[in-house]
Amino acid sequence: MLNTLTLIVSATITTMNRILKCTKSNLKDAAGSLKAGNLVAFPTETVYGLGADAANQGAVARVYKVKGRPTDHPLIVHISSIDRLEIWVRDIPDYAIKLANSFWPGPLTLILSRSNLAKDFITGGQENVGVRVPNNPCAISLLKEFESLGGLGIAAPSANRFSKVSPTSAADVIDELSLYLSVNDIVLDGGRSIVGLESTIIDCTKSRPLILRPGGITNTMVTELLGQTIDINTKHTGARIKASGLLESHYSPNAKIFLTGTPAPGDGFIALSKVATPSGAFRLISPSDNNEYARSLYAAMRFADSMRITKVYVCLPEGDDIAVAICDRLRKAATKSIYE
Ligand code: TXA
Ligand code: MG
Repeated sequence: MLNTLTLIVSATITTMNRILKCTKSNLKDAAGSLKAGNLVAFPTETVYGLGADAANQGAVARVYKVKGRPTDHPLIVHISSIDRLEIWVRDIPDYAIKLANSFWPGPLTLILSRSNLAKDFITGGQENVGVRVPNNPCAISLLKEFESLGGLGIAAPSANRFSKVSPTSAADVIDELSLYLSVNDIVLDGGRSIVGLESTIIDCTKSRPLILRPGGITNTMVTELLGQTIDINTKHTGARIKASGLLESHYSPNAKIFLTGTPAPGDGFIALSKVATPSGAFRLISPSDNNEYARSLYAAMRFADSMRITKVYVCLPEGDDIAVAICDRLRKAATKSIYE
């Protein structure tokens, strides 16, 4: 009886989540809704974010609840342009200004010392805050509408349940979160994310930049811009992990991911198109290059889960481009397979 009731309530909530196209009037409504304290999931070029008014403690608390994420994992604040950076941060090193000028809008998050406005409920109690200008017309229009209402920034983690695969379409967001969103929350549909993996995160709080999470802005791009070699965070530093994406078993589908070995008939298989499908394996994607690989990877993992495929074998891509980020996410997803 209770189960039936739960199902009915869940189904009702599911159908009531509002998915809106990114038209001017919908964006106005979404910005107003954010300002009123509701949540708005929105597209970015990396993945979809679950947005809340970054100055509204109650709204931000709901983000954590909807995601099922521990509250000491900080959120990224999204702004419409570099001109608004100083609202949220202070003591910006020259190299960080260079990075922002060159790669924003784009798949890059800068961690900087926080201003008084970046409260503990955003930063998880840390003295720094992550900020990003996304490169997506829908996200930028939403931010501008929100800012025109007096909003200062949109706090947004990826719009998935904690430790699961990030969504790269509005339908993915609904799959992940519809049971947890409420009737006044909105999902903006801006098509598929074109990068497909979460932003590069660079810690800019020290004299030298440190890459915490690889993404679309690569180590090579940063090195070329700054004319110096860049440090990359290695995974087991022993320090308390404050960035959830740095946890070993993040980005996991239900299927087990294997980075070595041969698939049995019916197992999933992911590799660049130049790699032949092993006999009997279920080919999930055949991307022609590393960018397409990144763009389609999370959708492939979701598809495997929807097909009840329990094992997925993956050939890691090579290169110093976005391949580094693909390998990072796949190794994290595979950790579950190794340690379970
Ligand atoms: O591409 C992206 O970055 C997407 C889109 C929506 O912008 N957002 C995203 O947010 O991936 P999230 O919260 O799912 O992942 C951001 C990661 C988390 O691991 C978080 O803990 C870490 O960045 N992070 C955020 N602020 C930080 C800070 N101040 N210091 C260290 N890590 C931080
Ligand atoms: Mg995430």
